[in-house]
Amino acid sequence: MRARRAKPADVVAIHTLVAKYAAQGLLLPRTEDEIRAHIGRFLVLAEKEYIFGCVALEPYGTELAEIRSVAVDDATRGRGLGAKLVQFALAEAKRRGFARVFAVTHAPDFFLRQGFAATTRRLLPEKIERDCRGCSKQRSCHLAAVVAVVHPERAVLPVLASSATA
Ligand SMILES: CC(C)(COP(=O)(O)OP(=O)(O)OC[C@H]1O[C@@H](n2cnc3c(N)ncnc32)[C@H](O)[C@@H]1OP(=O)(O)O)[C@@H](O)C(=O)NCCC(=O)NCCS
Repeated sequence: MRARRAKPADVVAIHTLVAKYAAQGLLLPRTEDEIRAHIGRFLVLAEKEYIFGCVALEPYGTELAEIRSVAVDDATRGRGLGAKLVQFALAEAKRRGFARVFAVTHAPDFFLRQGFAATTRRLLPEKIERDCRGCSKQRSCHLAAVVAVVHPERAVLPVLASSATA
């Protein structure tokens, strides 16, 4: 089994994996078309054609990316594959030059074990603007935000980042 970037041929398997957990309310649903259109953002753990797990890195400009759609095949959960996927995503984020990577999740402890730190969505205004503002669950949302710094020398506080662009 190896971690690699996803290919167009993986779209159906990724969709099946994400849809199963979306039906349980654990992940946000993604359509096949959405996954196909953004296949370059997905990473997978695969053996031959079989996809054991997936993760997506969604950019917010050049500095910040969100880890989304982290999923491991039910039959192989709890064997370290989720950790491997997240570490691969962090390495990929670093390679692409992002300074920080965040997730908004119902499983913050999983990310804390992978070196993320707890944060608040108020420090992620880009996320609020893109997804939270129009979300019907805005007032009852129990998801937690976590963040990891992948390029410490480039990670500035949001307040400094916004004053730099003012
Ligand atoms: C969450 C998920 C990706 C973890 O993958 P996994 O392969 O089962 O996780 P791992 O075996 O790599 O576990 C890594 C560590 O995280 C812990 N962990 C796993 N799932 C967890 C969860 N839901 N909440 C808290 N901790 C979790 C494990 O106990 C393990 O701890 P350890 O290193 O101290 O032993 C997988 O369970 C999954 O696909 N869940 C459904 C979809 C989902 O909830 N995605 C994440 C939400 S964004």
